[in-house]
Amino acid sequence: MTIQLLTKKSGPTISKYIYGHFAEHLGRCIYEGLYVGTESEIANVNGMRTDVVEALKHIKIPVLRWPGGCFADEYHWKDGIGPKETRKMMVNTHWGGVTENNHFGTHEFFELVRQLECEAYVNGNVGSGTVQEMQEWVEYITMGGVSPMAEERRKNGREEPWKLAFFGVGNENWGCGGNMRAEYYADEYRRYQTYVRQYGEDKIYKIAGGANVADYHWTETLMKNAHWMMDGLSLHYYVHPHGWEEKGSATEFTADDWYLTCEKAAYMDELIRRHGTIMDKYDPEKRIGMIVDEWGTWFTAEPGTNPGFLYQQNTLRDAMVAAITLNIFHKHADRVHMANIAQTVNVLQAMILTEGAQMVKTPSYHVFDLYKNHQDAQLIDCFGELPPHVTSTASQKGGQLTVSLANFDLKESASLNIVLDTAVTVKEARGLIGTEMNAYNDFDHPETVTITDFDGVTEIEDGVKLSLPPMSIVTITMACHE
Ligand code: AHR
Repeated sequence: MTIQLLTKKSGPTISKYIYGHFAEHLGRCIYEGLYVGTESEIANVNGMRTDVVEALKHIKIPVLRWPGGCFADEYHWKDGIGPKETRKMMVNTHWGGVTENNHFGTHEFFELVRQLECEAYVNGNVGSGTVQEMQEWVEYITMGGVSPMAEERRKNGREEPWKLAFFGVGNENWGCGGNMRAEYYADEYRRYQTYVRQYGEDKIYKIAGGANVADYHWTETLMKNAHWMMDGLSLHYYVHPHGWEEKGSATEFTADDWYLTCEKAAYMDELIRRHGTIMDKYDPEKRIGMIVDEWGTWFTAEPGTNPGFLYQQNTLRDAMVAAITLNIFHKHADRVHMANIAQTVNVLQAMILTEGAQMVKTPSYHVFDLYKNHQDAQLIDCFGELPPHVTSTASQKGGQLTVSLANFDLKESASLNIVLDTAVTVKEARGLIGTEMNAYNDFDHPETVTITDFDGVTEIEDGVKLSLPPMSIVTITMACHE
């Protein structure tokens, strides 16, 4: 089969923020996964674990969303500042009913963001917080001059304001964020966002809490009543092949489950199209970003772990879901301005798993690594028919062409010619080449699924040809010649 890439006609920029991450106070994501405290024997800088920070920088993490999730609408930021020993405790009612000591708060989050060299996306509390509380949080973070909150911040050791790039006005307000109706939340959004003031030079990008999966009424209501007051509107969608009740094991599944999971991942395309059509009605210029700030797989928690901690293993199937989904985000790069996979460490479709001092990179991490050249590159249109069970994406930046392809067929290889309108030299071809559909990495076998060189690409007169092995995800980088 043949596809054609028109490099001379480039499409929208694939925002680097599509490669964003999400870290909630949930299970072992923040505590242990990212933050171990300065007294820990685990190597850390100001309490942030060095191995995890390094691994995330390697995949060029562009933005981190925090503190939730459902936790955000129960979080009172003032409990998380000041001397750690006097910080008020709370019960994390959503996630295991554990006691939260608030040792990771605003200062710690911005220290983490500094170390990761990424942007901050803070999610405010609409469900159980006041307008004043939200307003003061933004003032505390961003006010450079003299003000009560800026003085409070200085008292706590931080002279300069931080850069707050993105601010979410509530989370899942149709559910854990207050069980609101779309009409009610639209009004609340308008009220709360009014007080998300801009104290500094940097514009705060305001994100309205968006729909659950296919709740198109929610999107319609928010757009109709508040589109001119928002920069982004969120969307949440999790892949669980058999529904909420029977999520199934992350590692033990059948071939049918594999295909069903891939199919459910591909449903993201329809969701973006249909929510996008509603957004187009009110925002034909596509100024407002669709912010898919929670996505990924959600399986039954690993046996023997706290079910409220949402700890799951991560196999080649999760890697496939990542590749399928990222390809869809690219395709809709004109509307999807950010996405945040759930979640960064030890929760749901994690990049990284930890156990005490040990750390392992998951197959999903490797997809983010394989795809990182696409960040802020121009999307290239692809014409022609792909083999069944194959999905692809292509982009270019600075004379470099990057093509990523995933073959989710469990048995068949896929042969493909990629015809180009420019001469190229293949610089590199690397990928995850599957052997077992449920292969995963653990602390004793950290490289069962890892990136290897792929030697199946050959240059031909008008492009390249390749044969993609079953269960493989490959990225080819090429230098373009005029
Ligand atoms: O990511 C886990 C949870 O999923 C989040 O807290 C919530 O927003 C969503 O329902």
